[in-house]
Amino acid sequence: MNRIVVLPGDGIGPEVTREAQRVLELVSERHNLKLSFEKALIGGASIDKHGTPLHGDVVELCRRSRAVLLGAVGGPKWDDMPVLTRPERGLLAIRKELGLFANLRPASVFPALVAASSLRPEIVAGIDMLVVRELTGGIYFGEPRGRAQRAGAEAGSQAVREARNTMVYDEGEIVRITRVAFDSARRRRNHVTHVHKANVLEVSQLWVEVVNEVARDYADVELVHQLVDSCAMLLVKDPKRFDVIVTGNMFGDILSDEAAMITGSLGMLPSASLAESGVGLYEPVHGSAPDIAGRDEANPLAAILSVAMLLEHSLDNPGAAQEVRDAVAKVLGDGHRTGDLVLEGEEREVIGCRAMGDLVVQSLDTRS
Ligand code: IPM
Ligand code: MN
Repeated sequence: MNRIVVLPGDGIGPEVTREAQRVLELVSERHNLKLSFEKALIGGASIDKHGTPLHGDVVELCRRSRAVLLGAVGGPKWDDMPVLTRPERGLLAIRKELGLFANLRPASVFPALVAASSLRPEIVAGIDMLVVRELTGGIYFGEPRGRAQRAGAEAGSQAVREARNTMVYDEGEIVRITRVAFDSARRRRNHVTHVHKANVLEVSQLWVEVVNEVARDYADVELVHQLVDSCAMLLVKDPKRFDVIVTGNMFGDILSDEAAMITGSLGMLPSASLAESGVGLYEPVHGSAPDIAGRDEANPLAAILSVAMLLEHSLDNPGAAQEVRDAVAKVLGDGHRTGDLVLEGEEREVIGCRAMGDLVVQSLDTRS
């Protein structure tokens, strides 16, 4: 039995993971994959029950599983908490505990959705990139960190609040994520863009050095170093130039939202987070969208496409993964849209989260 742990989390997390799990159940039965599912808490839901965003038992459960399917964490209820106790900490902790250093965020555009992008169709059609984001290091985890007060400059003046975070990478961390990027490029279009800020940051200078060293083993892959500000600009100007983008934790966070949005909607983009140990975590790139939570308005396709990545990377079944992607393409091709995929002023019927899940399931069901 392959255990799959489902961590629905907060906001729209439970709604989208429910549809994703249905899809995974159906496909795994058809392919005889013998999965068992177990649900557990993370994020705000876990804070409410256990007083911590991630309980040690849940980490252990995930360690003993083949893969984790996660929804999203966070919401206004927990917004005033200090960073180290917030729901988001649960997500960062599970990534760190499971050693999920390689975050793959593919951004490609479904032909049916070209018009849903805020960019012109000729810029958007054919976008197909993969953001490879380092996920367990950098400024998200660097020490020292924290808030402090120091004495004001003038006698009798008020204390000054300050806060600090530290960006640290060692060469081993850079080597392993760079190898993931180059290996991915070999399965794609043999092009890697390394994104950095080496004109300002020593950390980025180390990245440039180490990426160049790794690149020697990949003479067949073309490498470009790109400053992060210029990359942000090129993503909206000419997104088709990108194949694989490799970068650190925070730049990857920011650029993957941008890459996702130019393909039409953040509601479409899946992700995989992989560890050397073999366990994988799969989650939509989007957040918990508290404004629409519980209203059956969320787009479950990013979660469903995350299931496709799970089938491919954790269950070694690219055929089944492709069936899921084809089913999604079919449903979109037939014109079905959740609210996030409809442009303002566009006349189109909008369907809910459940209905979108139903359509994908039906489309899979009616395959020969
Ligand atoms: C993401 C999210 C997380 C991140 C947050 C929720 C901690 O934005 O997965 O991109 O910054 O990594
Ligand atoms: Mn993010």
